[in-house]
Amino acid sequence: MSDNSLNSSNMHSILFVCLGNICRSPAAQGIFQAIVDRKGTSDMFRIDSAGLYSGHQGQLPDKRMRSAAQRRGYSLDHIARPAGPADFLDFDTVVAMDDNNYEDLMHMAPSVEDSRKVVRMADYLTTHSISYIPDPYYMGHDGFELVLDLLEEACAGLYEKLAGK
Ligand code: 4NP
Repeated sequence: MSDNSLNSSNMHSILFVCLGNICRSPAAQGIFQAIVDRKGTSDMFRIDSAGLYSGHQGQLPDKRMRSAAQRRGYSLDHIARPAGPADFLDFDTVVAMDDNNYEDLMHMAPSVEDSRKVVRMADYLTTHSISYIPDPYYMGHDGFELVLDLLEEACAGLYEKLAGK
């Protein structure tokens, strides 16, 4: 992994990536945005999300995810878009939600150096013992709650890593 820690003199850009860009990655984007807003560091981060499957392009996040996130105070209004090789030029850190996302992003990276930007969201968990953020699309209500629990913890861990605290 490249040195992804935040240089205080510049902005750090983060792209959260999942399969559809309608459940996990827009939720991670909203949660990470809420953290930087709360910390007063929003001018130091550029945060976006994208999907590896383009079938939901142009859509708001899944209604079930929007409802579950809203109950925790996150308003998710990202419009789904596909990830592409150009994202590796645009972003410092590319965060994969699961192993399939990770492998797809490693293949998509235009260079070996770019591939070092790819990290796993679950690597920033601090108490949960799971190696990926599960896809909630075919899960019930509890699946969305679990994903939000995991993303809140992992986003906090990623923020601490990048902010160097
Ligand atoms: P996400 O969830 O990757 O967390 O956005 C999914 C959304 C849609 C599909 C799969 C996963 N789908 O197959 O349509």
